Amino acid sequence: MLSSQNTFKTPTVIQSDSLKLLKTSLEQLKSSYTQCVIISTPTVFQLFGNTIKKQIENIPSSEILIQPGEEAKTLSTATLCWEQMAERRVDRHSLLIALGGGVITDLTGFVAGCYMRGIDYISIPTTLMAMVDASIGGKTAVNFPNHKNLIGLFNFPKFILIDPKCLHSLSQREFSAGLAEVIKYGVIDRPNLFELLEHNAEAILEKKPVLLDEIIKQCCEIKNDIVQKDAFDKSVRATFNYGHTFGHAIETLTSYQQYTHGETVAIGMSCAAYVSHELNKIDFTFIERQDNLCRKLGLPTKLPSMPIEQIIEKMHSDKKNRGDQITLILPEKIGKVIVAPNFSPNVIHRALLNKQKHDSITN
Ligand SMILES: NC(=O)c1ccc[n+]([C@@H]2O[C@H](COP(=O)([O-])OP(=O)(O)OC[C@H]3O[C@@H](n4cnc5c(N)ncnc54)[C@H](O)[C@@H]3O)[C@@H](O)[C@H]2O)c1
Ligand SMILES: [Zn+2]
Repeated sequence: MLSSQNTFKTPTVIQSDSLKLLKTSLEQLKSSYTQCVIISTPTVFQLFGNTIKKQIENIPSSEILIQPGEEAKTLSTATLCWEQMAERRVDRHSLLIALGGGVITDLTGFVAGCYMRGIDYISIPTTLMAMVDASIGGKTAVNFPNHKNLIGLFNFPKFILIDPKCLHSLSQREFSAGLAEVIKYGVIDRPNLFELLEHNAEAILEKKPVLLDEIIKQCCEIKNDIVQKDAFDKSVRATFNYGHTFGHAIETLTSYQQYTHGETVAIGMSCAAYVSHELNKIDFTFIERQDNLCRKLGLPTKLPSMPIEQIIEKMHSDKKNRGDQITLILPEKIGKVIVAPNFSPNVIHRALLNKQKHDSITN
């Protein structure tokens, strides 16, 4: 069940009740862990902690519960984890278990990667965002004041267990946030996925199991394929950043308070489409089609009221840039994007002005 030929393709189980496969999955690793530490949030631990604990009852275990939200994805939270781990004598043969959304999987991977120069961890993502994106591909990080994901490392979990049933307790807003990344995969790589979302929006929002399974499987496949081609983000992996250069700027400028990560990705994808339109790469129907799908799936597309100059200024510090030049991922059609380095701020400015104008006339 848990086999993988490629170092960068983490063995992943996607099925109902896969949490109950934790014991057998750990046995397959043939590592005798001295102890397990589960890193989670209070809500998620209350929901799934008992199931996990039962699966690891033959290994000494404890948990570190951190406050939910992006504000917790910091070096000080990581330090708090390291302090507690040192106190509990977590050693090189211990295992960390990330149980939660993207904040938890990013943080746990980072904490595991730095502690004693690296200890094993596994991921059990419980939000759609973490199932289709954050837990896959080995990128882990914490935020730094004013800079999203600035301090981090590549660190792949030993395996990932995805149980789509976990999504039933997730709020509609957080669920929609994950759908933003699903739309992103459709635009960058898979027109059929985009159409599946367009044709089944209502049933998806009702979390119909067959559709959830299908969407999660397709997204994991797309992400794993591209990560295998470019694990360390030197070329094609940059396309995952579609919508994110704008999104990260908006997320940071609103201090992670106003929007979820996925909501800023939806706004960012709309911004990127306006830039493509400004360059005559796409016609307006693309923008409408993408914006309509985002709105149907409960996502915002309008820019927040803030000066465009501020957004562009913030985009200069994006990690995808070289020096001071902005790199953008731009759509050419559904299923194809290009990486555009050395981007002119003037074009972005004109595109965002145009977007602001259209935003003010649409509901
Ligand atoms: N490493 C990557 O490649 C990558 C990719 C995409 C996103 N990310 C990161 O992921 C983070 C966002 O992740 P997120 O959207 O999962 O948010 P999140 O981790 O903040 O989780 C959202 C909320 O949902 C709660 N929750 C989680 N699972 C639940 C469940 N099953 N039922 C009820 N409540 C539940 C959490 O406690 C939290 O309050 C961002 O920091 C982003 O940068 C990383
Ligand atoms: Zn994202």
